[in-house]
Amino acid sequence: MKKDLLHVAIIMDGNGRWATSQGLKRTDGHKEGGKTLEKLALHAKKLGIKYLSVYAFSTDNFKRSEEEVNYLMDLLIYYFNHKLKKVCEEGIKVVFSGRKENLRKDVLEAMQSIIESTKNNNECVLNICLNYGGQEEIVDASLKIYEDLKQGKLKKEELNRETFAKYLYQDLPPIDLLIRTGKEKRLSNFMLYQMSYAEIFFSDIYFPAFDEKAFDEAIAFFYNRDRRFGNVKNNN
Ligand code: FPP
Repeated sequence: MKKDLLHVAIIMDGNGRWATSQGLKRTDGHKEGGKTLEKLALHAKKLGIKYLSVYAFSTDNFKRSEEEVNYLMDLLIYYFNHKLKKVCEEGIKVVFSGRKENLRKDVLEAMQSIIESTKNNNECVLNICLNYGGQEEIVDASLKIYEDLKQGKLKKEELNRETFAKYLYQDLPPIDLLIRTGKEKRLSNFMLYQMSYAEIFFSDIYFPAFDEKAFDEAIAFFYNRDRRFGNVKNNN
């Protein structure tokens, strides 16, 4: 793996539409999406990608029906307690980004248990964004910065884009490649701070059908991009 693809992020969209297209219930789409995530996490590790961030549940997803929200929360618990076992055994460290409030106690416990059981893993990091919003993350970071400035733990002159990033939910490198499955072309309040120079790959494939081959195509797209980070192309 070339050095410049360190952090890949995925907006796992299209679970519901995939299920409907197969004559199944929306919730079956989430279940199948979980299997896809497990496969992709192992595949990304095999490719040498050190950080994988995924959007599992946004702060706005609470607007969905109570039945769907509860199903998703039960599914997440099942994954954290059982299904991600292979992911853990493969040396992947699981961390979470998002707000704790509004999450059920049993969800918080399952999150804590997978954090504990993978905390010493050091092959790569799977960052699961749960009850997450990108603007909310920036607001929460600003509040922590305000407190540290007030208490003298941080000086105004020390604040720059790197130090600001340390106040985000997790200390992660910038996102190099964002993949959004499921046809839509928007960012949906996902990791806005970390995404400033990300290459963006939109796929028409619904997430449950997004397999290793599709992932490889996204990676190939990344390596074909000419990344300039605001600089000009060097023609020499
Ligand atoms: C978006 O599809 C997907 C979600 C809101 C949930 C993503 C969750 C999983 C893949 C389950 C497993 C996750 C983990 C972390 C183990 P959608 O419901 O918005 O689909 P639609 O746009 O077709 O309605």
